[in-house]
Amino acid sequence: MITITLTDKPIHQTSAKSIALFVEQDTQLKEIKGIAKEFFPALESYLKEQKFSGQEGKVISMPLQGEEGIFTLFIIGLGKIVDKKGLSIESFRRSFGSFIKLMQQKDIASCALHIPAATRFKTTTHYLAKQVAIIAQMAVYRFDEYITDVDRKVRKDIALELTIKAVDKKEIQEGLDEGFIIAHSVNKARHWIDLPPSALTPTELANKAKAIATEHQLLITIFDEATIKKMGMGGLAAVSAGSEQDCRFVVLEYKAAQKNVPTIALVGKGITFDSGGLSIKPAQHMETMKEDMSGAAAVIGAMEAIAQLKPKVNVIGITPLSENLPSDKATKPGDIVTFYNGKTAEVKNTDAEGRLILADALSYAVKHYKPDAMIDIATLTGACAYALGPFFTGMMGKDNELLTRIKKAADISGDRVWELPFDDDYKKSIVSSVADICNIGKPAYQAGAITAGFFLSNFVGDTPWVHLDIAGTAFNVPDISYYEREGATGVGVRLFVELLLNWQ
Ligand code: BES
Ligand code: MN
Ligand code: ZN
Repeated sequence: MITITLTDKPIHQTSAKSIALFVEQDTQLKEIKGIAKEFFPALESYLKEQKFSGQEGKVISMPLQGEEGIFTLFIIGLGKIVDKKGLSIESFRRSFGSFIKLMQQKDIASCALHIPAATRFKTTTHYLAKQVAIIAQMAVYRFDEYITDVDRKVRKDIALELTIKAVDKKEIQEGLDEGFIIAHSVNKARHWIDLPPSALTPTELANKAKAIATEHQLLITIFDEATIKKMGMGGLAAVSAGSEQDCRFVVLEYKAAQKNVPTIALVGKGITFDSGGLSIKPAQHMETMKEDMSGAAAVIGAMEAIAQLKPKVNVIGITPLSENLPSDKATKPGDIVTFYNGKTAEVKNTDAEGRLILADALSYAVKHYKPDAMIDIATLTGACAYALGPFFTGMMGKDNELLTRIKKAADISGDRVWELPFDDDYKKSIVSSVADICNIGKPAYQAGAITAGFFLSNFVGDTPWVHLDIAGTAFNVPDISYYEREGATGVGVRLFVELLLNWQ
C-alpha cells in the first residue's frame, strides 16, 4: 500500500528516507541545483558521466551523506516537450512507475518528492495528482501470496511525502483521493485475474461481487445455474455444461442520486478458465487462460470505484461467469443453442465460448434495462491480440458518439483503444446453414476479432453499443513499468471510471 501525505516543507527537510526529483530532458538540470549545492557538489558532472540528461523513463539513484545519515537520491527523467503538446502524461506514468519499482527493489520505505507542474503537461493539478496516486498504487502491486520464500517478496508499504504549495493543497488532495479509489479497484481486478483458476471459480467471483455490493451499497442479483437454464440463457448453460462448477450470472446496479439520467450497461466476459472445451486448446495456448475473466473483473472493479465516486449516470454491471471445460456432459461441435433473446447459434467450435455467454448477457441487459448505451469488454479473440499486440484494446461498433466518448476516456485514462473496421461486409461471415448464426466466422472472411464482434451485434438490438476486445491487453503486457511483466493489468477499470465520470 502506498500512502501519500502533503507537506509545505522544503524537500530536503522532511523525515523521508529518500528524495526524488523530476527532471525534463536537456534543461541543464536546474531542478537539481539546490540539492547538488547542499549534498553533492559534483552531482552535475556525475550525471553527465552516467549519461543522464532527463531522458524519458530513465531513473537513477545514488546514496548521499546528509546531516542525519545516508539517504537515497532518485532522479527521474521526464523526457522533453515535443511540438506544442506539453510533456507526455504516459511518459510520466512510466517514469514514475519505474521509480516506484526501484524503491521497492531497494527496500526504501519513504520518499519526499516534488511533482512537476501540471502546466508542463498542459493539464490540471487535479488530473496529475490523480495519476500520481493511480500509478504509485498500480506499480507496487505484485501477486506474491503463493510465494513462500520471503526473500522473493518486495516491499509494498511505501510512504510518499509530496512537497507542495499551500494553495494547491485542496486540489491535490482531491485528485489523490479519487486516484486511490480507482487504483484500489484496478488492483482488486488484477488480483482476481491473477488468482489460480481453481481458486477463483464462477461462484467465488460472484461472492467477491457480492462482498463489494454489500460494502458499497450496490444492488446485486446473482442467478445460479438452475435459474440460468430456466430463464433460457442457453449460451451460458452450454458453455458451463462440461464443468462440475456451477455457472453464475451477476447483475450489479448503481443508481445515481439525480433523476432522469442516462443508464449505461457494462457487460464483462467471465470465463474463469478457458480450456477450449471439446475443441480443446493446445497446452501452450491454455497456460494463461485464467485471464479469461478479465472483462468481468474490469466490470466488477469499475462498479466498486463508481459506487464511491458517484457519477451522474445509472450504471448496470453484468457478468456471465463460467468455466469452459471438456467432459462427457460438455457441449459438442455441431450442437445448436438458443439464447435469452430467442436467437439460435450453431456451435462449430467450443473454444469460441465468450460470444456465447455474452450473447445471453447482452440480451438480458437490453430486455431488462433498455440502456442508453452498452459496452462489453472481453478477452474474446486471439485474432485481436495478433492484430494490435499488447498495447491497444480493440474497439468495434457503429455508434459514432459512443465510439468517440470511449476514445476520449481511453486517452485520458491511459487504457488505450484502437478502432477496427466494423463494416457490414463482414456480416455474412457468421451465417449458418442450420441455425440463425454460427459461432465461428467462415475462413474466407479471416478477421476473427471483427467476425466475433458481428456475432455479438445480433444481441444488442438498436442499443448504442461498443465492443472492446482485451485479449491482447489484459495479461502479460511487456515494457510498461507500472504493470508486472507477467500478470494482469486490470485494463478497463480506469477506462470505464473515466468514461462514466465524464459522461455529461
Ligand atoms: N479466450 C480466448 C481468446 C484469447 C486468446 C484470450 C488469447 C486471451 C489470449 C477465446 O475464448 C478463444 O479461444 N477464441 C478463439 C476463437 C476461435 C475458436 C474462433 C481464438 O481466438 O482462437
Ligand atoms: Mn475460448
Ligand atoms: Zn475464452
